[in-house]
Amino acid sequence: MEIIHTVSDLRLRLSGETRVALVPTMGHLHDGHIDLVRIARPHATCVVTSIFVNPLQFGPQDDFTRYPRTLAQDCARLKEVGCHVVFAPNEHEIYPERQQVTVDPSPLQHELEGAFRPGHFRGVTTVVLKLFNMVQPQVAVFGKKDYQQYLIVQEMIRQLALPITLIPAETTRAPDGLALSSRNSYLSVEERQRAPQLYQALQQLAHLARQGVEPEPDILHQVSLDTTYWQTDYLTVRRAADLGKPQPQDHQLVILGAARLGRTRLIDNIEVTR
Ligand code: PAJ
Repeated sequence: MEIIHTVSDLRLRLSGETRVALVPTMGHLHDGHIDLVRIARPHATCVVTSIFVNPLQFGPQDDFTRYPRTLAQDCARLKEVGCHVVFAPNEHEIYPERQQVTVDPSPLQHELEGAFRPGHFRGVTTVVLKLFNMVQPQVAVFGKKDYQQYLIVQEMIRQLALPITLIPAETTRAPDGLALSSRNSYLSVEERQRAPQLYQALQQLAHLARQGVEPEPDILHQVSLDTTYWQTDYLTVRRAADLGKPQPQDHQLVILGAARLGRTRLIDNIEVTR
């Protein structure tokens, strides 16, 4: 496995490769990220994992400076799972000057995560398009843990006619149900014990949605997170295909939630067929 820091070294290394898969990450890798690499392997002769904490997708109140950076540890795990190339650029390599050309994603960028993190998805699509252009992969693997991000990237690929196949990966969870996330390391011992309550709330909503009897707003009133510990940004039922408001004829739904537990913001979702 090679660890590469510059775009010129990356191009040199990938020049002879015919089938490249990219797994974009911000590092501090957990089993969910490692699963993405495992999924990528049979689709390519060369798997590239990028590790870059992208300042453009963090708001002024977000955790950019305290986001964990653990490159040596990450590379050890990637080597073990059979990743071929780690692309770990510094900020100047990705943004040598102020980024004035950006990708304006579909209107979905303003909803859910976008409503609470203005500009977040513009930062995501801009860096993802740059990584696509630097690596020029045939395949890219994204996790459905970030369901809205997955849809927005898929829409960018389609509408900009990028020659890349997107492969979605299921959410990897801890045994108690908590979706793995680099941000889980911010949680105190007590918070970590409470954290699965978000997934449990989504499961309750999924159960009600599967029954399919009541209209969506009524379902939502039946489930909430304990406000002593949680500040809920949203708990909602949407159509899986485009996160639109579900209609009675929609069978594929997704239940999405985002909530803050102390200083840590957690997001999760469950897909439901009714
Ligand atoms: P990051 O949060 O590091 O996630 C990198 C990839 O891992 C994303 O596709 C994400 O959906 C996936 N992932 C995270 N937790 C997962 C889990 N528990 N199970 C399965 N997949 C999981 O998402 C980003 O970074 C950034 O926005 C990025 C796309 C790299 C652009 O900067």
